Amino acid sequence: MTDEKLYIVLMGLPARGKSTLAGRLRDAFRKDGIPTRIFNNGKLRRSYLPLQETARSEFYSPKNLTAVELRKKIAIMNMERAKSYLHNSGQIAILDATNAGRERRVTIEKTLDNHPLLFIECINDDEDILTLSVQEKIKLPEFAHLKDKAATEFLKRIDYYRMIYKPLKVERNYIRIDSLQNMIIEEKHSDAIPFYDRLRDYLVTDEVKNLFLIRHTESEYNIVNRIGGDPPLTENGKVQATSLGRFFRKKKISFIFTSTKQRTIDTAKIICEMQDDCRIISLQEFDEINAGICERMTYDEIEENMPHVFKRRGANKYHYVYPDGESYETMKPRITQGIKKAFFLNRYANNIMIIGHQAVNRMILSHFLYRREDDVPYIYIPQDRFYHIVSTQDKKLFELKRYN
Ligand code: F6P
Repeated sequence: MTDEKLYIVLMGLPARGKSTLAGRLRDAFRKDGIPTRIFNNGKLRRSYLPLQETARSEFYSPKNLTAVELRKKIAIMNMERAKSYLHNSGQIAILDATNAGRERRVTIEKTLDNHPLLFIECINDDEDILTLSVQEKIKLPEFAHLKDKAATEFLKRIDYYRMIYKPLKVERNYIRIDSLQNMIIEEKHSDAIPFYDRLRDYLVTDEVKNLFLIRHTESEYNIVNRIGGDPPLTENGKVQATSLGRFFRKKKISFIFTSTKQRTIDTAKIICEMQDDCRIISLQEFDEINAGICERMTYDEIEENMPHVFKRRGANKYHYVYPDGESYETMKPRITQGIKKAFFLNRYANNIMIIGHQAVNRMILSHFLYRREDDVPYIYIPQDRFYHIVSTQDKKLFELKRYN
């Protein structure tokens, strides 16, 4: 076994996914038998300083010199702890903090100079995700006393960090990662970095703890074979949604992602009503395939009135773009974006659900299952069953289950 040692120093504005990443890396390296520990500045700060003071945004103002000094002390304390961990049995020390300014990073490089050091910058500027992440963060006990001011205070804290933020550039070794896409944007290493290949792989691996993928229950259009539009659920659809709700009652679903169409939202509402703490997040990314000039028609009407469309789509369903609409192929980027958003928010929850549509769910399934492109538009998507999907470092599960 190798006895190489490494400092990993995270960097990024608050709510960019640093702590989740730190946890994922620690778990993965520990499973590989490499002693790894996280040194989190926020955790240390909370154990030394009164929450009444540190939850307030002013504590993070670069002009608040007393607080700047206190925060620096905490950071140095963690550097010393990390150093002593690697001096003993530890092999990887992960320093989890914003480390937004150059000055702090110079101190880190100078203090932790006895082993290779790699910075990882987490970047994510998606407004939807940021808003939802902030709403989750302020549920922490630390913010309880701020009541309805908590979100504003947290956003102000982010703005203060933004004032001193300098992206990684001159540091010797770094990776800049889009933490929503799990995609490396830029990497540079001037020194030999131990464990680099597997670290890189862990960084880009998507994880989902428990995803329940469901198709909306029966809509008014389903019973007459009409496509697209924004129809409501039928009475039978509401009964199906109630059975789903009962089935998932004990599962504790924290987020239900839907499209912006009422058939998915209404299915979600019925399920959510039977949960204690469940939030519906409607994303355009999960809207059904746009059938353009064929929206709201039945397949028979399309065949009769637009035989060329019917024939051409039948011959090449994956690639065929409806006039003024989409194809399975052109939908793919937005579906992938929706999946990434759901995965990002899965960090705040054990169980999440996506309530999608026929074509949408086919695309989501093809993200996990290998299918030839030509076969994707024919994946069977029943309305009386759901998929349960787990994809973590040590578990891959894919099952189609009945709910009633
Ligand atoms: O029929 C329901 C539906 O969700 C339509 O709104 C959509 O156009 C269709 O399924 C997608 O399935 P296909 O690609 O097989 O036409």
